[in-house]
Amino acid sequence: MHRAARKDDHVRLAEEQQLRLPPSEFDDLEFVHHALGGVSTEEVELSVQVHRWRWPTPFYVNGMTGGTDLTGRINRELAVAARETGMPMACGSVSIALDDPDAARGFTVIREENPDGFVMANLGAGRSGEDAVRAVELLGADALQLHLNAVQETAMPEGSRDFSDWRRSVAEVVAASPVPVVVKEVGFGLSRSTLEVLADLGVPVADVSGRGGTDFLSIENARRDLLTGPDYSVLSGFGQSALACLLDAPAHAPVLLASGGVRNPFDVVKALASGARAVGVAGTFLKTVLDGGAEALVPLVHAWAGQTAAILALLGARTPADLGRTDLIVRGRLGEFCRLRGVD
Ligand code: FNR
Repeated sequence: MHRAARKDDHVRLAEEQQLRLPPSEFDDLEFVHHALGGVSTEEVELSVQVHRWRWPTPFYVNGMTGGTDLTGRINRELAVAARETGMPMACGSVSIALDDPDAARGFTVIREENPDGFVMANLGAGRSGEDAVRAVELLGADALQLHLNAVQETAMPEGSRDFSDWRRSVAEVVAASPVPVVVKEVGFGLSRSTLEVLADLGVPVADVSGRGGTDFLSIENARRDLLTGPDYSVLSGFGQSALACLLDAPAHAPVLLASGGVRNPFDVVKALASGARAVGVAGTFLKTVLDGGAEALVPLVHAWAGQTAAILALLGARTPADLGRTDLIVRGRLGEFCRLRGVD
């Protein structure tokens, strides 16, 4: 299967998934309401400190795509929206452009449209330190996302079956990268022990990217219909949600970001209250730009910022960091996970 066709398949299938998302563990987390606890929205400051960066919005466009005509157009729309709102943005894996210079255009468009914004390049585990340097240079990137997608590779007809070298490869990329590395999953979560290993490897920032939104098991199984090989839908439901990962995170961990199934500003607030410094959004923003381009995403981002500030004021939080003091109740599947893992 041609790599470029895979990029377009991923977009098409991820868009379809947005129409039928599964029950969300974000709905298992509730705030105890304190009717006299609120502050003024005017006092709320939404910007967040992530590692050595100050981001104007507590949410960002997560790594998705690039490398084909269709995905280059998507990156252009996302980049325009990022420029107009100040929101940070990641691109999808640039591997395709490192191997084929013709594919680079679908990524460099991001810098053309947003020369001064915060941009993250993206690579998969298993690539060399030299590739990490090239990925960062391609975009003039401020950070490098490095994705760990073993579940997706397992389900992918043309996927890798050997993950034995990934720890060493993460260490090599961290050592070689000229900018800080953000290690992320792609929708199956980073466990407590994985986060500890990442901290030991010197990874400064990690996005737990959990289950519940874009589902690459189901995407790869849908692609398999067109190809040959065994069906991995037996793994359906594998992995942890973003909130489960955040609540179960160890003290010794990189700075935490969260993503995976973020649908609205209340989900953003719940992830922030559970320990994320900022929140990544892929599928929801992808659907918005496919439906209406940057013209639709810019007002959505402004609306999300306004609503996030209003919810913080309701919860008595002047900054996202203040959300750490809110009273949380955990129910349902998320509650069961927390009980079984001994999370307070
Ligand atoms: C992704 N994602 C992704 N992640 C990554 O690190 N490198 C990549 O190349 C891609 N490619 C990609 C394509 C498409 C079409 C989507 C929708 C997503 C994963 C993404 O960054 C995120 O981790 C998951 O999608 C979970 O977040 P959402 O989609 O539930 O908000």
